[in-house]
Amino acid sequence: MKKILITGGAGFIGSHVVRLFVNKYPDYQIFNLDKLTYAGNLENLKDIENKANYKFVKGDITDADFINNLFQQEKFDAVIHLAAESHVDRSISNPLEFVQTNVIGTVNLLNVAKHAWGCSKDKSLPADKKFYHVSTDEVYGSLGDEGLFTEETAYDPHSPYSASKAASDHFVRAYFDTYNLPVVISNCSNNYGPNHFPEKLIPLCIHNIKNNKPLPIYGKGENVRDWLFVEDHANAIDVIFHNAKLGSTYNIGGHNEWTNIDVIRLLCKIMDKKLGRAAGENEKLITFVKDRAGHDLRYAIDSSKLQNELGWKPSLQFEEGLGKTVDWYLANEEWLSHVTSGDYQKYYEQQYVTR
Ligand code: NAD
Ligand code: TYD
Repeated sequence: MKKILITGGAGFIGSHVVRLFVNKYPDYQIFNLDKLTYAGNLENLKDIENKANYKFVKGDITDADFINNLFQQEKFDAVIHLAAESHVDRSISNPLEFVQTNVIGTVNLLNVAKHAWGCSKDKSLPADKKFYHVSTDEVYGSLGDEGLFTEETAYDPHSPYSASKAASDHFVRAYFDTYNLPVVISNCSNNYGPNHFPEKLIPLCIHNIKNNKPLPIYGKGENVRDWLFVEDHANAIDVIFHNAKLGSTYNIGGHNEWTNIDVIRLLCKIMDKKLGRAAGENEKLITFVKDRAGHDLRYAIDSSKLQNELGWKPSLQFEEGLGKTVDWYLANEEWLSHVTSGDYQKYYEQQYVTR
């Protein structure tokens, strides 16, 4: 029996990680701790909410007393930390919120885990405990036309979001070096798939195509992202959680680079067919808008360490994954209307507060 605290489990990636762990490991007890910000929605986990090995706890990772009490009470063996503010554009308009959640919240969790597990440089690493920090490739900054981010690439964050994630990664490593906290970090490329909040490029454009609204492309649409299907990320987290050496870092990515404009052209084509529109109809919605400040040109991940050492590889081609994603959004109009109207809180109140 293992007790695992997963933070941010009501969000996009967290919900896929929680579902995978609850279903795959019936012997583990999975606690999902989430503040339920605008990005967290328990409807993402409807299918597993009554499973015996799953429990939801509403709470804030920046609240030291609350986290400390939860640890004292539940005596977790491991933490998989995903809770974060995650949208670059929001970080540009409100950087302090990102410092608060991504930096202070992470250090708070590190402190509580260190205390609960009695970690110190005078003692050996507690091999039966683990603090797994989920991070992003954006900490490495921006690539030119050539090259890939490896685990050795120096950190060079540019946005307030990536700066806050970089700071949190540094704190996680500092707790390994200074206090022998048993940590593992992974840095993943851009994810896409079901449950993605429709402020990010792909779900926003699916939503807008469906509603015949403009598709806002920042600058010339030449920026490159390395897209990975969210379930492939969740599988990588499973593999790393169970097999990585303590203190190590793994990059996760699918060798799947696309310019933004090509992603949106492909999406338009897929949705012309799925919505029964004439070929080329959706592309007319593409609208070039003012570029994002400090917009990183290119991200691309070298995940050969993960592939060679731990045998992980992505399972889906982008065209197939994007088709599956569109199908999910078209079939889940209720989810979309709840998250876009703010009604996602009602589900929590009905399912958890009143019962
Ligand atoms: P998300 O915004 O969809 O979800 C974040 C979750 O954290 C939400 O459920 C939210 O309610 C919760 N949360 C926010 N503040 C909290 C707080 N103070 N206390 C408790 N819970 C809080 O994010 P995501 O896209 O699922 O990303 C999850 C993690 O993966 C983040 O750490 C992010 O940096 C990292 N990541 C994301 C991507 C990506 O493409 N989305 C890629 C690589 C890494
Ligand atoms: P996004 O989904 O916000 O992820 P990230 O900034 O973490 O990579 O953006 C993906 C790419 O799409 C990025 O280069 C910014 C661009 N973009 C647009 O062109 N238009 C949009 O409306 C959004 C949200 C993003």
